[in-house]
Amino acid sequence: MKLTYYGHACFLANVGGKNLLFDPYITLNELAKNVDTESIPVDYLLLSHGHEDHIADAEAILKRTGAKLISNYEIVTWFGGKGFEDGHPMNHGGAWNFDFGKVKYLNAVHSSVLPDGTYGGNPGGFLIQGVDETFYYAGDTALTMDMKLIPDMAKLNFAILPLGDNFTMGVDDAVKAAEFIQCDKIIGMHYDTFGFIEIDHNEAKDKFKQAGKELFLMNIGETVEVGSEAVANNN
Ligand code: NI
Ligand code: MN
Repeated sequence: MKLTYYGHACFLANVGGKNLLFDPYITLNELAKNVDTESIPVDYLLLSHGHEDHIADAEAILKRTGAKLISNYEIVTWFGGKGFEDGHPMNHGGAWNFDFGKVKYLNAVHSSVLPDGTYGGNPGGFLIQGVDETFYYAGDTALTMDMKLIPDMAKLNFAILPLGDNFTMGVDDAVKAAEFIQCDKIIGMHYDTFGFIEIDHNEAKDKFKQAGKELFLMNIGETVEVGSEAVANNN
């Protein structure tokens, strides 16, 4: 499957022929200024929690594409109040079969409030199981023992983990998370966007390598082939 990075925590994954966009924060992200948000095809919009750096472009994308929103109950309800009534609400531990595959909403240790101060429910991550690929999008989270449950649910082909530190786990804890989830191919997110979360790319990759794992830090706008095979393009 194809995976494209749009900066910060935003990825587009093509699963079962559908385009799944995660946590769009593009037009406000200086590092993603070359991305044309208007041209991103979206069938499903998945939001991990309510913070601005994860939902900034959500409303415009829902309006433009008519995509179905998948998020926690509180966030789906909030967008419902804005006229987007086609959302699919979930809560922790729950799974649902969509036409592209199965989504399970998993725990994240973080916080969640919507931009206008509305309670944003509890933050989460997503386990995605398509026909050809299974992956974990962790959302914003600390390292948590709950991650040890994931290998009992699914064998991951790859995982997308935050590692910028300060607001989420940093690199050392992300290496441990990769061990907890028993996954050797990790794609990093939630780093470099603002001052508190800048990381040393080579040092981060070395730490994963020392643990027998591979860390991929994608360029913004870059598309890679991932799935049952290895991540094809290591930059
Ligand atoms: Ni957050
Ligand atoms: Mn965040």
